[in-house]
Amino acid sequence: MRTKITVVGAGNVGATLAQRVAERDYADVVLVDIVEGLPQGKALDMLESGPIVGYDSRVTGTNGYEETAGSRIVVITSGIPRKPGMSRDDLVMTNAKIVSGVVRQVVAHSPDCILIVVANPVDGMTQLTMAVSRFPRARVIGMAGVLDTARYRTFIAQELDASVHDVQAYVLGGHGDTMVPLTRLTTVAGIPAADLIPAERLESIVQRARDGGAEIVNLLKTGSAFYAPSAAVAQMIDAIVLDTRQVLPCTVHLEGEYGISGLFTGVPCRLGEGGLIEVVDVALTDDERAALYRSAEAVHQVVEVMDARRDEIDPSLGSLTQGITIG
Ligand code: NAI
Ligand code: 2OP
Repeated sequence: MRTKITVVGAGNVGATLAQRVAERDYADVVLVDIVEGLPQGKALDMLESGPIVGYDSRVTGTNGYEETAGSRIVVITSGIPRKPGMSRDDLVMTNAKIVSGVVRQVVAHSPDCILIVVANPVDGMTQLTMAVSRFPRARVIGMAGVLDTARYRTFIAQELDASVHDVQAYVLGGHGDTMVPLTRLTTVAGIPAADLIPAERLESIVQRARDGGAEIVNLLKTGSAFYAPSAAVAQMIDAIVLDTRQVLPCTVHLEGEYGISGLFTGVPCRLGEGGLIEVVDVALTDDERAALYRSAEAVHQVVEVMDARRDEIDPSLGSLTQGITIG
């Protein structure tokens, strides 16, 4: 039987991701949305691309969850994107209600799946997803670090007229203004970026990466980025489906790693067939660790907002903040 991958939300990120996965030809894809006809129409259009592009992936669109049963991976993109002037955190209560309802239905039909969360604010939504699903941490992963790192790598490559393949880097922390690009560990063809780019210039690249989502929102005006985000999720899916064991920055439930417990935050993770294999421990300087803790605090605040209003999200939800310690 072919692997089944479900994408919930047939909007910009979801539909683009479904196309990317279908074109990989290693899984069938189910696209779910609440808007009638939208997932069905987009799925049929993708299916009809198969003979041209050369894939046999079956792509199905639906407004229900029967067709998603037995999915190996379910990606949750259902949620509103921000508009110019909004922060990702402004989306929290609207998206929390959407995500909790979706996760309940998903896990009822695919109790063994790996959940990849995209909806924003993503670190908080991933924390909520783990609480609703009651899945082990290996099977609940948020996407942000791959995207933030890709933006940072793009700007470094542009600065040096280098190939993106040669730029290695990590962006850690939450997916927000406090994210932590590790300049000390950024290399270009093995050479420290700090030896190639003046400190002030490197700092402005870091800031542009931090503002990367807003830069695109301000240009698009009616939505947020989706090409790079869907490529980022597809890379995580590759690592799981193909069991590549690649190390990618992802938001995962920390259980003492980096001195943080009980909270989802972006750190380097090895991914493979079961989802999260391990959190990779990178030795940080005191300043980097302090920046990571500031970023984790920002995620904590979002989780506290949801926790205080969890009756509105789902009356059966337990505490979202229990056991959180940072530093
Ligand atoms: P979009 O508005 O294009 O698509 C969202 C889709 O979700 C819509 O088609 C909508 O009908 C659907 N939806 C809403 N409620 C639903 C429900 N209960 N069940 C099923 N489908 C439902 O938005 P876009 O651009 O695809 O972004 C989706 C989310 O992902 C946003 O919250 C955005 O902020 C976030 N995002 C996160 C990124 C990250 O790095 N983690 C990167 C890019 C986007
Ligand atoms: C981004 O960074 C919207 O969070 C999304 O583009």
